[in-house]
Amino acid sequence: MPCQSSDELKLLVKEAKVCTNYGKVADYIPELGKANPNDLSIAINYPDGRCISAGDIDKKFTLQSISKVISLALVLMERGSPYVFERVGMEPTGDPFNSIAKLETMAPAKPLNPMINAGALVVTHMIKGDTVEERFHRLLTFIRELIGDDTIGYCERVARSEFETANLNRALCYFLKQHKIIQEDVETLLDLYTKQCAVEMNCLDLARIGMIFAMDGVDPLTGKRIMPDDVARICKTFMVTCGMYNASGEFAIKIGIPAKSGVSGGIMGAVPGKFGIGIFGPALDEKGNSIAGIRLLELLSKNYRLSMF
Ligand code: DON
Repeated sequence: MPCQSSDELKLLVKEAKVCTNYGKVADYIPELGKANPNDLSIAINYPDGRCISAGDIDKKFTLQSISKVISLALVLMERGSPYVFERVGMEPTGDPFNSIAKLETMAPAKPLNPMINAGALVVTHMIKGDTVEERFHRLLTFIRELIGDDTIGYCERVARSEFETANLNRALCYFLKQHKIIQEDVETLLDLYTKQCAVEMNCLDLARIGMIFAMDGVDPLTGKRIMPDDVARICKTFMVTCGMYNASGEFAIKIGIPAKSGVSGGIMGAVPGKFGIGIFGPALDEKGNSIAGIRLLELLSKNYRLSMF
């Protein structure tokens, strides 16, 4: 029996919130360093349109790495999986999200998966269009469709803050360009990537996206298919194997829900066939995942037997 009321969620938030004291907000993107580490919010979106939530649910945050699942879904639709997987792999790395180490040992230098930064940069490179504006518009249109809200946009301050400081991602791009995995101008790609990462929403919106993935790409309220079920299946599989980076194995054992985190403190969960989860808690653990968000998911999974395994 899944969690049924916002009151039940409030109790879980209260319990998990203690963990926020043991995490730190990301500050390698200076704008993210301004977040309040004690924030914690969660929403669950059911296929019948019901939504329950707790915490500071109106707070907006940027998607950061959660956007990687969405851009992957878009390029799988635009290019087809053979094209995409010729350029990015399917295997977990066991390394931090921004590591360059495995790229150097791979021949060709194809990133191991689309959830690490190197792989996500290749995926963003594949978004169709002639200009950054056109390509970003395609992505934003897709995100707006997933949520059913045309007002979703991005935070210019966060995008600029990352663009100005993203030297590690620049290094990854130059490496990929040298090895002909990407062809475009590095600054252009980073402009698009940092805008993608800065798409902004609250946890209710995020839960709604999770629900569409959980329902294999169909909006159950309208019956409209937003992405092919195969695309939703591939994305959820990557969420299980690589969604929490080098914490994915432990997360699968303890929680067992396809999920994707971002350094802003967001986590999107998709409980297959059941519901979507959106969490925001900007205090992170040492692997870059929301520390209280993971605790909250652990409590939810145990109390309501949500593990898919
Ligand atoms: O590229 C970066 O470093 C960020 N825009 C996103 C990284 C991220 O969210 C990793 N997730 N936990």
